[in-house]
Amino acid sequence: MCNVCIIGQGFVGLPLALSYSINGCNVVGVDIKQELVNELNNGVTHHTEKHENKKIQNILEEQLRLNKYKATTLISEGVEKCSNIIITVGIPIINGNAEFSDLKSSIVDVARNLKKQDLILIRSTVVPGTTDELIKPLLEEYSGLKCGEDFYLAYASERIAEGRAFEEFESMPTVIAGINEKSARRAEKLLKIICNAEVIRADSIKIVETAKILENLQRDVNIAMVQEFARFTEALNIDIFQVIKLANTHKRVNLLMPGSGVGGYCIPNAYYYLNAKAEQISLELDLLKLSRKKNEQIPSFIVGKLQELLISIGKDIKKSKIAVIGIAMKDYSNDDRMSPAIEIIKLLLQKGVEVKAFDPKVSTKYTYKVDTQLEAIENSDAILALVKQDGIIYDNLKEFSSIMKIHPIFMDLKAVIGKREAEESGFKYWRI
Ligand SMILES: NC(=O)c1ccc[n+]([C@@H]2O[C@H](COP(=O)([O-])OP(=O)(O)OC[C@H]3O[C@@H](n4cnc5c(N)ncnc54)[C@H](O)[C@@H]3O)[C@@H](O)[C@H]2O)c1
Repeated sequence: MCNVCIIGQGFVGLPLALSYSINGCNVVGVDIKQELVNELNNGVTHHTEKHENKKIQNILEEQLRLNKYKATTLISEGVEKCSNIIITVGIPIINGNAEFSDLKSSIVDVARNLKKQDLILIRSTVVPGTTDELIKPLLEEYSGLKCGEDFYLAYASERIAEGRAFEEFESMPTVIAGINEKSARRAEKLLKIICNAEVIRADSIKIVETAKILENLQRDVNIAMVQEFARFTEALNIDIFQVIKLANTHKRVNLLMPGSGVGGYCIPNAYYYLNAKAEQISLELDLLKLSRKKNEQIPSFIVGKLQELLISIGKDIKKSKIAVIGIAMKDYSNDDRMSPAIEIIKLLLQKGVEVKAFDPKVSTKYTYKVDTQLEAIENSDAILALVKQDGIIYDNLKEFSSIMKIHPIFMDLKAVIGKREAEESGFKYWRI
């Protein structure tokens, strides 16, 4: 029987843990958050993942009932019961710097409880070099064991998209490397329990760590580029969404869509992970730096555009009330980490604007968050349509305008409605 301990029970760790238990393993999920662990052991999760039409909430309840999954705050408990340990603890970026303390403390705790023949598989996205230069020495120092001989260490980048986790654990080709041949073989075997797609072996862990950052950075640059294009098409009075749709009919073009900015844990952090290493080797990352800066400036551009639109109809932003619809960092997600919506709201609040925001999927509590979409829209001067979400409706335009203040504005960051229909319902309409 396969035993797996998964450290970190967040957006990656929980569905990963449940994937292993669905596939017959006994799984211990470890997280430092006591409240989260209590919720999980009571069968409660706020995640929106699904597996074959079954909600993650139901999968969790089922696996708890079958005794295949258990959550705990104790790494010692997980490592004692399991010989396969998977790390999904992240590296936050604080003021542009990679903050390793969570990852380090999880590794030290694992090391203190490590047994001979255990495998540690890192799935966190890291600064290139982290596994060799930080994780391996910590494991050896605090366990007193020799890596590659007494225990095994490997890295497999995590490539899932939130909302498609279960499906992508199975179907996404996975790239791995080990500290030595035996480590790589053990990791391959562990991955193949849940992954039906190719497991691709790389020459070194550093290559896999770097490839993962590159995957995320190509999206950051792609989005920065289409945002710049959006300014160009706006000036030409043509629709950016149509331009991109046409360009994407070319078989070798894959442009992403512009929107309210780039959020979540993965893409905004990627530049800073690479830069942490680039600084050590005195390398400038001009293009990547500029792309990141451009993406970080989108919320402020949107607030500036809103101010412009309000002025054009004789309104003062400071006296306005704005309905922000969608708080999540992307469509159909409950994740509001580093969400552009939160940044936009922060900028609006700094200007003294009254903000009411609505998102039925985001569970975080905010003072400006309201329970219904109409409550957010009522008496507002403008609607900011930031994400598509189950439970958010954009096409009741007549009803919206009838409860808003005079000369309402609709700022459409997602092309959710058309200019003509918006204008017919009395809106001044702007699309990214
Ligand atoms: N979210 C995604 O879609 C995604 C996709 C690919 C890769 N990744 C990477 O996977 C990693 C995890 O991302 P996530 O979105 O699941 O993050 P998350 O914040 O949702 O989950 C991480 C969890 O680790 C826990 N944790 C922190 N320190 C701990 C410790 N010492 N011991 C035990 N638990 C600890 C936190 O409490 C948290 O619940 C990150 O490196 C991220 O970059 C994420």
